[in-house]
Amino acid sequence: VIDYNEEAGTYDESRGGESRAEAAAEAVERLLADAAGTVLDIACGTGIVTRRLRRPGRTVLGVDRSPGMLALASSRLLSAVVLGDATRLPVRTGSVDAVVLVWLLHLLPDPEPVLAEGARSLRPGGVLVTTVDKDDAYFVPDSDIAKVTAPLRRDYAARVPDSSVRVKAWAADHGLRPVAETSFPGTGQGRSPRSWLRPIAAGRIPWCTHAEPERVAEVCRELAELPDQDAPRPDPLYRLIALGTGRPRTQPHRPGA
Ligand SMILES: C[S@@+](CC[C@H](N)C(=O)[O-])C[C@H]1O[C@@H](n2cnc3c(N)ncnc32)[C@H](O)[C@@H]1O
Repeated sequence: VIDYNEEAGTYDESRGGESRAEAAAEAVERLLADAAGTVLDIACGTGIVTRRLRRPGRTVLGVDRSPGMLALASSRLLSAVVLGDATRLPVRTGSVDAVVLVWLLHLLPDPEPVLAEGARSLRPGGVLVTTVDKDDAYFVPDSDIAKVTAPLRRDYAARVPDSSVRVKAWAADHGLRPVAETSFPGTGQGRSPRSWLRPIAAGRIPWCTHAEPERVAEVCRELAELPDQDAPRPDPLYRLIALGTGRPRTQPHRPGA
């Protein structure tokens, strides 16, 4: 489990800095489709993405449960931040026009209560935008890391908290269905074989946490035997989906646009 209070001072740079935030905010904006009114950014962290969502005619509110992260967000967003938990949002039912969740669901043992709270907060016709399948973003076709990890990822996909299949099913239980999707590039965030070993050992990779220890050990051995141990593989392409009560939008999917 990551302690975001400790992480706050180094978070932005260690997660791709301003270029990641810019790409993420542009992708979120494509799915918000110019939503006006109130946009609630749940788990806003340091506000590095949140601040880019401000527009004339739109109020952006950030909520996060880490005082350390929120202190930085507060300096960026002034008063528009609230300390709070994503499972008990400090907003009235049906009161916000859009909910944004960037890089939260993959951290949670059970994302369903967070999606339920997001859905509760939304007004009828509002939109909930969330990242999904975060860890899969690194496994581009033809990457040797993708091949070595493929069997475990396939067998334990159903345990990955932010699996798009699970997120869409939970959303449906709360009256939301997919209306659009997009993606954004993690420029410079490609990972090397060695960089996977630490999070696997720390129990931070869901398709390993639930697997038999012997299979995890075998994957670690294979990762350690790959060439160019410290050479990053191709940059990830992170997925975002929009869930709403409306009809699916007809615009084409624009990967990394
Ligand atoms: C990976 S960071 C993402 C921050 C931000 N969305 C971004 O993209 O830069 C995850 C954030 O989720 C927050 N968080 C984790 N669990 C939470 C919860 N149950 N309620 C509110 N915030 C939470 C953490 O404090 C942290 O700031």
